[in-house]
Amino acid sequence: MGFKPVKVGICGLGTVGSGTFNVLQRNQEEISRRAGRVIRVEQIGARRPNPLADTNGTQIVADVFAVARNPEIDVVVELIGGCDVARELVLEAIENGKHVVTANKALIAVHGNEIFEAAQRKNVMVAFEASVAGGIPIVKAIREGLAANSINWVAGIINGTGNFILTEMRDKGRAFEDVLAEAQQLGYAEADPTFDVEGIDAAHKLTILASLAFGVPLQFSKAYTEGISKITADDVNYAEQLGYRIKHLGITRRTDAGIELRVHPTLIPEKRLIANVDGVMNAVLVDADAVGPTLYYGAGAGAEPTASAVIADLVDVVRTLTADRDNRVPHLAFHPSRLSDLPMLPMEEVETAYYLRLQAAENPGVLAEITRILADQQISIDAIMQHGTDDQLVPIIILTHVVKEVRMNAAIKAIEALETISGEVTRIRVEILDAN
Ligand code: HSE
Repeated sequence: MGFKPVKVGICGLGTVGSGTFNVLQRNQEEISRRAGRVIRVEQIGARRPNPLADTNGTQIVADVFAVARNPEIDVVVELIGGCDVARELVLEAIENGKHVVTANKALIAVHGNEIFEAAQRKNVMVAFEASVAGGIPIVKAIREGLAANSINWVAGIINGTGNFILTEMRDKGRAFEDVLAEAQQLGYAEADPTFDVEGIDAAHKLTILASLAFGVPLQFSKAYTEGISKITADDVNYAEQLGYRIKHLGITRRTDAGIELRVHPTLIPEKRLIANVDGVMNAVLVDADAVGPTLYYGAGAGAEPTASAVIADLVDVVRTLTADRDNRVPHLAFHPSRLSDLPMLPMEEVETAYYLRLQAAENPGVLAEITRILADQQISIDAIMQHGTDDQLVPIIILTHVVKEVRMNAAIKAIEALETISGEVTRIRVEILDAN
């Protein structure tokens, strides 16, 4: 191979950093046959040593910024995570003319617009395949593979920890906290596990997917986020009786009024392939006008699956090192000067169907009162289920047709105000996920 090796600096030597180093070493021959050049790790920046990582004598420095400034290095791989230091590091690398590969979803979702602008100015690339759904090449699929299409919507199980918790609750009847502790031991959970269970991690990833699908700037602050911590075993069971599974979905859909950007527990028909994605696995379903629905499935986290995406980015960067910025794949799939200003819709404007669970007194006329309230809000009922019990309170489950969220909010408020209703109404959104 006639070209000089490309020199890479890896910042961060945790799970993904050491995984990336290992895969680069193990598959060096095949990777260089693909890239057309040898990809060599020149230096590693690690604020803390990792006794578990065998870095084969590669120089390690404690100051990650030294890697960003090292004149020998062509590409900086940012794997330290978090937002503050990572942002500074990436901007410093760009200022020094380095290309950047990152697995950092929070960084891209929150600071991506600023970072891409800096990269455009300096004519360098910032690649972020590993930031969404780990090893699944979903960024490449949407940005390049679906480039002919007008995309209608994207729905994904994009947090492995949350999916693992819901799967174990359903299959084994395990308690929420118990399963979360196991996910933490497996090394999947975020440093702050509320990011997983409250949907923040998924919202970071969904923000990126929405921008790639619809060509809009990254707008994490507009994402609606609802976690899984209030899902009960009863809801899981009732959903199953009605032919649905509960999944924690990130959904982004383009409508005439704007773009939906929402993460919340969702009932989906059990016959959908995505409803059967279990455990820590991720899946992203994309509905596009020409190709129809396509589904991408695989490991959404872990050392080597994430390394797989990081190294694919490295190969991409190496292949286009000498290309001008106008001839590279744009960061957000659409040319930066052609991004759309279609607004993100507030949650109240979103249209979806609903599962409602309420506790009603065993009195004549209760159901009539409830259905009257729903009718007043023009909410049409799809199914109703009431189980007789010996208790004073009976659970009533209602599935509705699609309605604007603002109407459902009003209906729930009115139902909760009824004397015959005890406590809060549980509301879980329902998505059929059929192609347009
Ligand atoms: N905490 C994330 C998950 C890791 O559970 O999917 C990958 O981003």
